[in-house]
Amino acid sequence: MTTPVYSPGLEGVIAGETAVSTVESGLNYRGYGVGELTEYCSFDEVAYLLLHGELPNAAQLQQFHARVAAARQLPAPLMGLFAALPQSTLPLDALRTAVSVLGHFDPEAADSSHDANLRKAERLLAQIPVAIAAHHRVVKGQPVVPARQDLGHAANFLYMLRGSEAAPADVKALDVSLTLYAEHEYNASTFAARVIVSTLSDLHSGVTGAIGALKGPLHGGANEKVMDILLAAGGPENAEVWVRSALARKERIMGFGHRVYKAGDVRAGILKKYARGAADTAGTQKWEEAADIIERVMAAEKNMYPNLDWPAGRLYHAMKLEIPLYTPIFAMARIAGWAAHVVEQLDNNRLIRPRGLYKGPAARNVVPLARRS
Ligand code: CMC
Repeated sequence: MTTPVYSPGLEGVIAGETAVSTVESGLNYRGYGVGELTEYCSFDEVAYLLLHGELPNAAQLQQFHARVAAARQLPAPLMGLFAALPQSTLPLDALRTAVSVLGHFDPEAADSSHDANLRKAERLLAQIPVAIAAHHRVVKGQPVVPARQDLGHAANFLYMLRGSEAAPADVKALDVSLTLYAEHEYNASTFAARVIVSTLSDLHSGVTGAIGALKGPLHGGANEKVMDILLAAGGPENAEVWVRSALARKERIMGFGHRVYKAGDVRAGILKKYARGAADTAGTQKWEEAADIIERVMAAEKNMYPNLDWPAGRLYHAMKLEIPLYTPIFAMARIAGWAAHVVEQLDNNRLIRPRGLYKGPAARNVVPLARRS
């Protein structure tokens, strides 16, 4: 047997092939740069692109929208479960549970063929925002707002959450963030989904596991921590002192650094102007000023640059969305990427089963219980 190559955290390891996206020379989805996608396309078009491989024409988009809009509903037992969960249940945990429950009710749950997986993916794309908004309103004791069939993914989510139509600028900003969050090749949650379905498990199991992986603050959970950090820093007056002392305490500044992008994340640059625009509208520019100061210190002291979560956390805060909703919003975008990878994995499957480098005791014999000291 050849000596296995070991890279802690699998850094730099090519773990599989993919045609869904690449982070080489800027992030692109199926060949299209994310900058152009945010400029010319809605998230709904991008979700179609990721799932079906090509951008839709007008008729394909209209049919896709009709299918997704028709699936914007939840089984009644799931609504009952939301009411039964402890009040303290985090929205992302409720979403993880919801996706697992939705698997029980999906008519094609056990069919993992290519076409059935795409149909299930479209249903999950439709149901995830409904589940986030419904759980949020149930916890608040507010009546659940039924989905609108005429609105796109971003607009319908804000409508279900707030019970009124959002301003076009809010819809556009959220839509851009969803496009940027939609896909990111072999990130931790997508890899988790691919590992799960490589055993010939099903899509709902893969997505449930992916949401669990997304939760952690080194991955999707970082966008919630970003606002915690800015609130702890307290504003522009104190930001420099705060970040320098946090670094001195060896704390991680969430929203900075990336396993792959060492010179900056193109997505952060794209979303920054939307975070700024939303802050101007909301009159909360002080968080943008504090963010600029922290960015300057992180570049000078750590040679470290913002990732997408840095502007996303600020954008959602300026839009007056509650902090525990930020990672679920990430999930309602990334479902497109997760499902595209699940389909790709199963189209050409091989069980993902790496090796561990053993560091335990040398081989030894069992001492029977009666003779153990
Ligand atoms: N703030 C301060 N120090 C940092 C940070 C940070 N954000 N990130 C890494 N470091 C330090 C780390 O402490 C370590 O220092 P030392 O060598 O002295 O122990 C060194 O940099 C290398 O850290 P690492 O964890 O080995 O590096 P990595 O390439 O595995 O890290 C990362 C990638 C994203 C986990 C890390 O940069 C991090 O924890 N960032 C904060 C969390 C975050 O923003 N996550 C979102 C990632 S992008 C969007 C997404 O996928 O959700």
